[in-house]
Amino acid sequence: MSQSTDILIELRQLSKKFGKFTAVDKVSLQIYRGECIGFLGPNGAGKSTTMKMVANLLRPTAGEIWIRTNGHLEQLTGQNKDRLLDNTGFLIESPAFYKTSTPRQILTYFAKLKGYPRPEIKSRVENIVGMIGLRKWIDEKIGTFSKGMKQKIGIVSAIVHDPDIVILDEPHTGLDPSARRDVRDFILKLREMGKTVFLSSHLLYEVSEVADRIAIISHGRIIACDTLDNLESQAQRSTIHLEVLHPSEYRESGESTETRESQKFQDPQDSKIIQESQDMVTKLYRVLHDFIEPNSISYHRDTRVYQIDFNGVPQTQHQMLRALMANDIMVVEFSVPKAGLLEALYLDYIAKSDTEDLEHQKANIKVEAVL
Ligand SMILES: Nc1ncnc2c1ncn2[C@@H]1O[C@H](COP(=O)(O)OP(=O)(O)O)[C@@H](O)[C@H]1O
Ligand SMILES: [Mg+2]
Repeated sequence: MSQSTDILIELRQLSKKFGKFTAVDKVSLQIYRGECIGFLGPNGAGKSTTMKMVANLLRPTAGEIWIRTNGHLEQLTGQNKDRLLDNTGFLIESPAFYKTSTPRQILTYFAKLKGYPRPEIKSRVENIVGMIGLRKWIDEKIGTFSKGMKQKIGIVSAIVHDPDIVILDEPHTGLDPSARRDVRDFILKLREMGKTVFLSSHLLYEVSEVADRIAIISHGRIIACDTLDNLESQAQRSTIHLEVLHPSEYRESGESTETRESQKFQDPQDSKIIQESQDMVTKLYRVLHDFIEPNSISYHRDTRVYQIDFNGVPQTQHQMLRALMANDIMVVEFSVPKAGLLEALYLDYIAKSDTEDLEHQKANIKVEAVL
């Protein structure tokens, strides 16, 4: 799957700015034939903007989009878009349909528009409406449909011309659990049919159930991209959550717990806390340098947790704790989170990139260790 001849879409350093705001920031991504790749990120991360650029609905500020046609990759331009996107179907954000049209009319229209062979359109339309469980409704007016049913018609309208590549932007959004399951099953069917699926969602579960690989996007940047298994084992392997008392806390002896609690609610910009956490990060690197790599400690100000990446070996963990104690670091919490769930990783990556973003904003105060 990793052979370059199997790349169907390649994004190279793709960026989009709206005015001064960077919505998509040098995104590079390869989408392979036959895979389902999940594009996972919180609202506002840049998923739709990226997909709209692939659909040629938005023009990139910088970077390139390459799409395979007739065996070779070609760069998408305004001139060749129809030819290059011929083999791709899109659902970008929620579709809007005329209330008085029926699924049959809408899908027949799209099929003709996309040049699907005329004699086969009728059976094709009936077939795909059946695939998504709405066969009974094929001649009913869309105006009477629930949001979920409209969304399903939107999804099948993306594949009416039987493209090899299907790009679905948040197909689960606004659906109830049962409709979400139908959509999940439908995506699995597309995969069985050998389609290449590029699926975005802010819902981790929906993505992890169907995707072979997951690209996590936050603040316009891809912060992780791997198979679910690899992401999960990374999450399990190697993180310690450390909470310590800072010098100002244990100097005020007797009320340290309370002080800690009240400090949690202090302005995180508070310069004393920032200074102390910077000093602590420096000290942790010194104390733990035998056990960790550079750039493996980050501090999460809101939870007051130092996150330390290490090799995951229990002996190392033990030695690290001993080193902390031997150096009079006031450890109050030292744990390996049970992060088997990608959930933890996802939140963690997002938290890391949020922290990083804060650091960018506060260029005058540099915390050494974040990412
Ligand atoms: N047309 C636009 N003009 C200005 N800002 C936009 C526009 N479209 C999107 N954005 C901003 O870009 C960021 C990414 O948006 P979007 O790609 O829609 O995120 P997602 O799909 O991941 O929720 C958001 O902060 C959004 O407000
Ligand atoms: Mg979106």
